[in-house]
Amino acid sequence: MNTTSHDDVRALDAADPLATLRERFELPDGLIYLDGNSLGPMAKSIPAEMARAVSEEWGQGLISSWNDAGWWELPMALGRKLGPLLGAGGGQVVVSDSTSVNIYKAVQAGLAMRSERSVIVTEAGGFPTDLYITEGAMQGRPNLTRRLLGENGAALDDVLDGDVAVVLLSHVDYRTGELFDMAAITRQVQAAGAIMIWDLCHSAGIVPVALDDCNVDLAIGCTYKYLNGGPGSQSWVYAAARHHGKIRQPLSGWWGHAAPFEFEQAYRPEPGIKAFLCGSQAILGMRALSAALDVMDGVDLAQVRAKSMQLTDLFMALVDQECASHGFGHFSPRDAAKRGSQVALTHEDGYAIMQALISRGVVGDFRMPNILRFGFAPLYISHEDVWNAVAILKDIMETEMWREPKFSVCSAVT
Ligand SMILES: Cc1ncc(COP(=O)(O)O)c(C=O)c1O
Repeated sequence: MNTTSHDDVRALDAADPLATLRERFELPDGLIYLDGNSLGPMAKSIPAEMARAVSEEWGQGLISSWNDAGWWELPMALGRKLGPLLGAGGGQVVVSDSTSVNIYKAVQAGLAMRSERSVIVTEAGGFPTDLYITEGAMQGRPNLTRRLLGENGAALDDVLDGDVAVVLLSHVDYRTGELFDMAAITRQVQAAGAIMIWDLCHSAGIVPVALDDCNVDLAIGCTYKYLNGGPGSQSWVYAAARHHGKIRQPLSGWWGHAAPFEFEQAYRPEPGIKAFLCGSQAILGMRALSAALDVMDGVDLAQVRAKSMQLTDLFMALVDQECASHGFGHFSPRDAAKRGSQVALTHEDGYAIMQALISRGVVGDFRMPNILRFGFAPLYISHEDVWNAVAILKDIMETEMWREPKFSVCSAVT
């Protein structure tokens, strides 16, 4: 096996075209932040933008800011900023509400487009909200059933047939980091006559995505991970233009009405992507997201992807090289082309090890039952960070620091 030296790692940083982007983020000195797959850091431009939104737009402009500061149009304006990152042509993306709420809208919209069919497909090991929301979508509709990919080994072939209305899948698995083939899976699902909905929470902003080219029907994703929109920042929805005019989603609030200021008695959906809007949006949160998306302006996602693959490859190789005797298992695909931007390790003492790492300034997270997740965001993580993170991991294992009782105390958020 080839070994990797500290000099090799420094050479990778010296050749990194994205190295200077770290300066755009507020990151505490010495912290190695490997949790951008959960919550991205704050861009340095955000406090001033927020101060302006609060003091000028709300403080001075008051209600006139709905027009004058572009608040009313913000969901669509943010959709325009996101479009290029998602491979989505104009007018197909809108920002509003939470990811969970948008999954609900998308699943129901898909079901409405295939009303003669009665089956929802999602993944047994998917992010729980995808499971819970599809369960909720079936409530009060005894004609609907659900099939779970991966349950008892079921593959896509096994669950697809002429009864399937919608298929909801994650582009990148939230635990293993596995990246799925969007084009091939979408083709297979549509060949069975179903509507394809992608959950892009773990790929938007980090993996080049081609929603239009893959002929995707509907997609949703969050903005607080690799898009750095801030805690609980609003989610986005994509609907292919060919479906516009036919979208019916059940949260038929006034913002999705074709003429909201006519105050009509009956709901009449806006013909385009705005049909996914529901009611008034948290504008201050959207202003932070807007500033965060500006940081991505001009950033080449192909370069981001290339560095992301290098960082995750390097981390895996260094864990093998430095920590081979410490009982870690690899839970992520070894082939970088089949991986998003996170690496998951398994260890039976994973929770305590992660808490010990965090106390030493290496922040990742833990997922039940034994998964240590490390996210690598190329905009602010260097190869040297990866080197240092593995050196600290090795030290924690060799000194058995993780055995200190305080590291086994569970917090609400892991
Ligand atoms: C794949 C996936 N879908 C959805 C969500 C979250 O939904 P929400 O933004 O509503 O909390 C997450 C959160 O981590 C996720 O990983």
